[in-house]
Amino acid sequence: MSKNPIYCAIDTSCINDADRIINEIAPYIGGIKLGLEFFTSCGIKGIEKIAKYELPLFLDFKLYDIPNTVKKSLQNILSYNPTYTTLHVSGGSRMLKECVELKKELNSNTNLIGVTMLTSFDDVSMNEIGMSGTVDRNVDNLSSLAFECGMDGIVCSPMEIRKVRETFGSKLKVVVPGIRNQTDNADDQKRTLSAKKAIEFGADIIVVGRPITSADSPGNAAEIFHQSIK
Ligand code: C5P
Repeated sequence: MSKNPIYCAIDTSCINDADRIINEIAPYIGGIKLGLEFFTSCGIKGIEKIAKYELPLFLDFKLYDIPNTVKKSLQNILSYNPTYTTLHVSGGSRMLKECVELKKELNSNTNLIGVTMLTSFDDVSMNEIGMSGTVDRNVDNLSSLAFECGMDGIVCSPMEIRKVRETFGSKLKVVVPGIRNQTDNADDQKRTLSAKKAIEFGADIIVVGRPITSADSPGNAAEIFHQSIK
């Protein structure tokens, strides 16, 4: 395996905690994912500080709004040159296509990644919000829409990797959270699998948060994850 595919989700509201954790885990990870918890507390200054580690950055804000708002927000995000950033595929084709167009206009290398079904969802929680069918079926439909609109990849749970790979081969990058070893707490994740299996099934990158960041020693935990996929 050439590049380390482990992106650690630094979900904290405290820049000092983020700094401490990243210092410990940097040798064992391939990139850093910053999301809403970090951004709503540490802001742009926090992102700029973490960017100094010079590790590939994944800005995960899961944009979902009207096309104009999403496009303008994406323009701001692309100015940080992240390797990956996320939009909800359920925002619809017009929103996705305008974002793909913007990326071309700006000559950006950022991978636009579509969130299909959150890994905290199962069939029951999906039906609760009025979506019919199964999670699998919806991941299928949303992945197809992402592909048709020219997105670079999708986020899905480890359970759907093989199906997405079968359908799209290497034409879509597959980003996979919900990574847990057997002894890890699942927390709020419902569709989980180990790092090793997710990579075997064809994930391009895996996102690991709490199993590393909440460990007694984040450095050790990250090293174990790294060893497990070698
Ligand atoms: O702590 P844990 O490993 O569950 O963290 C998973 C990370 O991946 C979180 O930052 C979460 O926002 C993100 N994520 C997810 N499911 C998605 C997309 C992103 O869990 N579908």
